[in-house]
Amino acid sequence: MLNVAVFVSGTGSNLEALLSTKDRGFFLKEVNFVAVFSDKDSPPAFKYAEERNIPTFHRDPKAYKSKEEYEEEIFHILKSTNTDFICLAGYMMIVGKTLLKEYEKRIINIHPSLLPSFKGLHAQRQALERGVKYSGCTIHYVDRGVDTGEIIAQQTVPCIDGDTEETLSERILREEHKLYWQTLELISKGFSHE
Ligand code: GRF
Repeated sequence: MLNVAVFVSGTGSNLEALLSTKDRGFFLKEVNFVAVFSDKDSPPAFKYAEERNIPTFHRDPKAYKSKEEYEEEIFHILKSTNTDFICLAGYMMIVGKTLLKEYEKRIINIHPSLLPSFKGLHAQRQALERGVKYSGCTIHYVDRGVDTGEIIAQQTVPCIDGDTEETLSERILREEHKLYWQTLELISKGFSHE
């Protein structure tokens, strides 16, 4: 079994999609969701974990002297929950070298654009401003950059005349919710992207 921790900062619709896929019982049979972690105090996302008795952990980065100390504390939590693998799902912090070293090639993120286009914040707005006809979502390994790690999976989504940031975001999110569990399913079955 792959013991997975999900890191969140906000709404948690991707977390909810992962957990409800597991609930249905057909997929993610090799995955245990062992922890949900957040840099925010009581984010809306926590309710999806609490409903299922999955332990939630919050640590405020401002309470630590350095990023290293903050991540050492997160590492203790991950060790105590036997976490093997980390899925970032709307986690707004940049992962630092402490966690990257401990979880090398075992941290993935989902981003709402076809990377390497439109990295960082407001990816959907960037896509609309650039006038692309297709955008989408990407799952990638996390490295020291922002949205720069090796790409694992992508799904395209059309940009439609009259789209707003909101309508495009919703269309992309619907695909995110499928791509995340499908990718995690492959990883849990031993797929390695090397
Ligand atoms: C998603 O669009 C994801 O791609 C990005 O942050 C958003 C999180 O949404 N990294 P949610 O909290 O999962 O609803």
